[in-house]
Amino acid sequence: MTSGGAPDSLGSFAIGFDQRDRARLHALWDEIIASNRWSQGSVVEAFEAAWEGWNGLPAVAMSSWSGAALAALEFAGVRGTKVLCPSNTFMATPLAAQAAGAEVVFVDCNRHDLCASFADFEAKALAHRPRAAFVVHIGGHIAFDVERIAAFCRAEGIFLIEDCAHAHGASFNGRRPGTWGDAGIWSFAATKTISTGEGGMLVAADEDLVGFARSYRDYGKPDYARAGLNLRMNEFTAALGLVGTERMEEITAWKNAAAREWLDADHPDRVQLPPGMVSGLYKYIVFRPIERSTGKVYDSPCHRIMGHDVDLPNTDWVAENHWCVPLYYQPSPERAEEGKDA
Ligand SMILES: Cc1ncc(COP(=O)(O)O)c(C=O)c1O
Repeated sequence: MTSGGAPDSLGSFAIGFDQRDRARLHALWDEIIASNRWSQGSVVEAFEAAWEGWNGLPAVAMSSWSGAALAALEFAGVRGTKVLCPSNTFMATPLAAQAAGAEVVFVDCNRHDLCASFADFEAKALAHRPRAAFVVHIGGHIAFDVERIAAFCRAEGIFLIEDCAHAHGASFNGRRPGTWGDAGIWSFAATKTISTGEGGMLVAADEDLVGFARSYRDYGKPDYARAGLNLRMNEFTAALGLVGTERMEEITAWKNAAAREWLDADHPDRVQLPPGMVSGLYKYIVFRPIERSTGKVYDSPCHRIMGHDVDLPNTDWVAENHWCVPLYYQPSPERAEEGKDA
């Protein structure tokens, strides 16, 4: 047991996969092998339908987060324009904007949620007139300012992309990440709350964007009206996504219950969520050094890595003053055993 009575297993890294899903996963993989259809088949469609069921918007599976990001950025037409991006994010976010031909303008975060600050977002948008912008839901909760940022973007004609790479399982008054902006883009990389090893998803309400993304992931087929590439997800990967999506609410509930039971009493200086918000708890973030930390969400802000001469005091403060308490999905040993021999 760790302090707070938490089982030691809570602190050992585990992929967010439920062992009870092994038999179902293996059955799906057997079906795929027998089908002779290893790509562009019914399992990708089933994963997209399950994701849409959870997320509430049409979903397009991609081979990675980058594929989803590039599809959204190309659709928005950012080449030769500016894109706002929080500096407190993974380098993936600004690099995607750069790869799509845009100039990145960094935005400061709030100290309390580590996500884009509306005040700095508005100031940078008015000064730089970007074509598009990112908001990143850092750590698994939803950016506290997302509603104001989205309303501002709608009024100013800025295409808003929600980077939901951390946000599996999250909601704000019942609303899911990716539904405030013009596009939501997800990662299923190996450390994420649910994972396909590698993979991504784009969600959007706009049918034109959904159609664009489907074509973009497939070299621009059928009419080659856009210069897409191969960003397709294969059927085996989609099977992992399908079982993970169906288990996601349970995983989120388990992580939240574990946090309440074993961690919260020891960590009063954690991120405090507004009423109505549920975090997927990709990270459990505290604002003081702790003994058993998995480190920081990010050690170095992107504006520092990329050498931008811009003053982002909250971003620099966050980089120095937060740590992550280990919290990995570890259902009871009996449950885990149930799936072992499948
Ligand atoms: C905030 C954020 N955006 C984007 C990505 C990129 O996701 P992927 O590794 O699936 O390309 C990550 C990955 O960790 C991330 O943390």
